[in-house]
Amino acid sequence: MPEPKQPKRKTILITGASSGLGAEMARQFAALGHDLALCARRIEKLDSLKAEIAAAHPDRRVEVRTLDVNDDEQVFEVFRAFKTDFGAIDRVVINAGLGKGAPLGTGRYDANKETAMTNFVAALAQSEAAMEIFRAQGNEGHFVMVSSMSAMRGLPKTLTTYAATKAGVAHLAEGLRNEFYGKPLKVTVLYPGYISSEMNERVDPAKVKGMVSTEKGVRAMVEAIEKEKDSACVPPLPWGPMSVVMKHAPLGVLKRVM
Ligand SMILES: NC(=O)c1ccc[n+]([C@@H]2O[C@H](COP(=O)([O-])OP(=O)(O)OC[C@H]3O[C@@H](n4cnc5c(N)ncnc54)[C@H](OP(=O)(O)O)[C@@H]3O)[C@@H](O)[C@H]2O)c1
Repeated sequence: MPEPKQPKRKTILITGASSGLGAEMARQFAALGHDLALCARRIEKLDSLKAEIAAAHPDRRVEVRTLDVNDDEQVFEVFRAFKTDFGAIDRVVINAGLGKGAPLGTGRYDANKETAMTNFVAALAQSEAAMEIFRAQGNEGHFVMVSSMSAMRGLPKTLTTYAATKAGVAHLAEGLRNEFYGKPLKVTVLYPGYISSEMNERVDPAKVKGMVSTEKGVRAMVEAIEKEKDSACVPPLPWGPMSVVMKHAPLGVLKRVM
C-alpha cells in the first residue's frame, strides 16, 4: 500500500493506549501517517504496541511512557516530556478510563469513587496538561475527549457514577469549545456505544444490543476525529438516533427500550 501523505495533525498523544480503544486508535492513526505519544500504566503493553507499529509502519515515530492518570504530578510531567520529545503535540486524545461501579448506597463507595477519580478528576488533570501545551502553541491543536453514550441520560445501578463522569467530561470539553470559539483550537467529543474492549470483555454480547468489534468501532472514532467534528456518536448507527431517544424519551418509555 502507498504511504499516506503528511497528515494535518502530525503528532497525537493518546492516554489509556495500552488496550482497547486507545491501542486500536494508535494502530489506525499510525496507518494514516501520524506519529504517536502513548501512555498508560502497563508499559509492557505499550512496548509491544510500539514494536507492532514499527513493524507495520517503519517511518512512524512512536514514544511510550508509563502514566497513572490519577497521579496529578505525573500527568503534567509526562505530557510535558512528550512535548519536549516531539517539539509540538498537535492532538491530544483523553481516553484513559474505567467502568467500575455499584448502585449508590450499597457499600461500594470505593468502586464509585475510583471511577469518579479516574474518569473525571484525572480527565481534568489531563485537560489542564493538554491545554497548557495548546496555549503555549498559540491556541493551536485538537482536543479530543472520549465520553460515552452513557452521558446522554442519568443511568441506573452500576452505571450511575460512570454515566455522571462521562456527562461531566463532555461538558468540560464543551466549555473549552465555547472558550475557543473562532480560534484555531478545535474540540471533539466522542460518544462511543458498545465497542469490544477489555472494559466489557465479561459482558455477554447476547445481552448487549449493538456491540461492535474494536476495529469497526474505532474506525468510526478515527473518522470523526480526523474530520474534527464537534461531537460524534460512534458508530453513527445505531447510536446517532439512539442519542435522541436517550435524551428525550420519557423515562417510562426509555426503561422499556433499554
Ligand atoms: N468500550 C466501550 O464500549 C466504551 C464505550 C463508551 C466509552 N468508552 C470509553 O473509552 C475509553 C477506553 O476504554 P476501553 O473500552 O478501551 O477500555 P479498556 O480496554 O479497559 O482500556 C482502558 C484504558 O485506560 C487505561 N487506564 C485505566 N485506568 C488508568 C489509570 N489510572 N492511569 C492510566 N491509564 C489508565 C488502561 O491502561 P492501563 O491499565 O495500562 O493503565 C487502558 O489502556 C474509556 O474512557 C471508556 O470509558 C468505552
